[in-house]
This record gives sequence, structure tokens and C-alpha cells, in this order.
Amino acid sequence: MAITAVVGGQFGSEGKGKIAGYIAPECKMAIRTGGPNAGHTVVTKGKKFVLQSIPCAIAVDDCILAIGAGGVFDPDILQSEISRYITDSHKLIIDPMAGVIDPLHRKQAQEIRGGTGSPVKGVGPAHAHKALRLADFRLARDLPEFSQYIDDVSLMANQIIDTGQQVMLEGTQGFGLSLYHGTYPHTTSTDTTVGTLCGNAGVSVRLVEHIILVIRTYPIRGAHGAMKYELTWNDVARESGYPGKLEEMTTVTKHVRRVGKMDLDWVKRAIMVERPTQIALTFVDYVNYQDFGVEKWASLSKKTRDYIVELEKKLEVPITLISTGPDNLHTIDLRKQKL
Ligand code: GTP
Ligand code: MG
Repeated sequence: MAITAVVGGQFGSEGKGKIAGYIAPECKMAIRTGGPNAGHTVVTKGKKFVLQSIPCAIAVDDCILAIGAGGVFDPDILQSEISRYITDSHKLIIDPMAGVIDPLHRKQAQEIRGGTGSPVKGVGPAHAHKALRLADFRLARDLPEFSQYIDDVSLMANQIIDTGQQVMLEGTQGFGLSLYHGTYPHTTSTDTTVGTLCGNAGVSVRLVEHIILVIRTYPIRGAHGAMKYELTWNDVARESGYPGKLEEMTTVTKHVRRVGKMDLDWVKRAIMVERPTQIALTFVDYVNYQDFGVEKWASLSKKTRDYIVELEKKLEVPITLISTGPDNLHTIDLRKQKL
């Protein structure tokens, strides 16, 4: 037992938060990487958590929640998440080296990227200022108001791994938004791949046991950047029989997401680079709404089962987790059968 990494294979919002929340009970520690430009949603037995800084293992009391050294956080956003969600039974730690987003970074993000569909949370400028080692750039260790949470994330993660327990690395965005491998310049300000997650957290890539690539049946993307097989939300609603109006908004920026048919070439490239041990396929309710909330493979409609079998053949990676809705309960877990 060692590290489980959860990463996105498309353009973000694949449901990494949901999958991370689902596997959290198996982990002793969860490390959030990246910054508050990603919003993760976990729904556990109807209770919803929307998180931009704290890991999605929040619903599991004895899982240590951590923000890694390579991450950046906005003190106001983090403080508000702490007040909303952190209780006495949680243990939250922030690496002293994690970067702090200041109002100046948010202002610069607005000036440079405002109106481009970017979440403009100041993440890019904060990373840039850290890289430049500007004199006024602050690290978590410089904030007295968070002193009770400051601890060595890398040391704790390695100690936990050495006792044989599992540590989860929770990625943000998706392969197509990686600064290195994505559709530059319509990307985020960091790489999103597993190697970078390990560096962020301070753990060796040699210890990664499971790489879960999360992909959606119908990928989405923000306002900018190419989308090969773009559809309208009406197309998806018609195809799946979704009742009422189907439309997704971005978690952080509250814009309508663009949607499309799955681009297999793109997913295959993500697979080539990430070499996932398994795939979590989300939004199968968009293939057939009859399958919304289904918890067993045998209960899925033939249309959806055929879609998944066909997709697995094409991707040549086991599809072990199938998500049929936002709640953790809306999950078909085939890991025992397939791994
Ligand atoms: P980023 O790092 O920001 O890309 O986030 P993410 O991959 O964690 O996804 P995010 O939580 O932003 O968006 C996914 C949304 O879809 C959330 O509102 C989830 O609750 C919801 N969701 C997750 N899985 C499913 C699913 O299988 N079906 C449906 N209908 N909704 C889902
Ligand atoms: Mg999101």
C-alpha cells in the first residue's frame, strides 16, 4: 500500500472530487495539490461539500487533510472552508512551503486573464511570483493566523506510507489543461500530471501504486480552447433522455460549460502520458438517464453497458469505477473484479 493518485484525463470537471471522496475511506491522508482555481464537489449521503483548497476526504473524519508544498492557497477562501467544514475531529495540515495568494496576485490575474474565462483566482501570478522569489512573496509559514495547521506534509506522508497505509494525491483540472501537455495557451498555470502531483506533495513517484484517470462520457470545457466534437446541452439531453433542462455551470466561475462527445485521441494521449492503472468513468447518466444513481453493474441499461464495454476495449485500461450521479452512493465499484 502506498500512493493513490486521482487525475483528470480531459479538460477538468471530470468529477475528480467525487472519485477522491469515494476512495477517501481507504486512505490515511489526502493531499490537495494545485490552487483554488479548481472547485471540487463531494456529495456524501446527500450532504454536499464544495472545496477549493481542502481535500475531498473531508467527509472521512480520520483521514488527515493536507495542502502540499507545491500548492498555493488564498487565505480568505481557506479560512472560509475551515469555518464551514473543519471540526474538532478533523486534522488539517498545511505545508510551511505552500504559497500564499495575495490581493496583488488576484488583481494581476484579473488584468492579464480577465474576460478569458479563466477563474482569475490569482493562482498563475502566485506561482510566477514564487518562481521569481520576489521579496514580498509569502509562504504559509509566514501567516500567523494559520500557525496551528503548519506541518511538514512530505514528512507526514512518507511516515504514513512507511507504516503501510495509503496516501491519496488529489489532482486538479485535467490533462488537456496541463501547462506542459495541454492546449496552450488555453491551459492552467501548472502541469496536472501525476509526476507533478508527487513533486507538489513531496513523495516519490516510485511509491505510486494506483493512478486513477477520471474521464467523463461527455467532456466539458470553459469558454476558450478547441473542442473537437462540441455539442449543445440539448444534444446531450436528447441523447440521454435527461428530463428538464440539462446544463452545467463551472464550480468556481459560474459560467455555462461547453460540452462535447468524448475525443478518444485526446484520452489516449492522456493514457500514454499518465499510464493509469485504472479509469473512473463519470457521467454515465449522460449516456442514459435511466441509469442515474444506479449502484450495480447488472442494473445498468444495455445501452450504457455496451458503451462502457466498447470504450474499455478502445482504451485498453480497466474501467473500474463507474459514476452514475454526484453522490458517493451513485458509484459502481468493479475494482475487486478487474484489478
Ligand atoms: P476540477 O479540478 O475543478 O476540474 O474539478 P472536479 O473534477 O472535481 O469536478 P467538479 O467537482 O468541478 O465538477 C463535477 C460536477 O459533477 C460536480 O458538481 C459533481 O457533484 C458532479 N458529478 C460528479 N460525477 C457525476 C456523475 O457521474 N453524474 C452527474 N450527473 N454529476 C456528477
Ligand atoms: Mg471543478
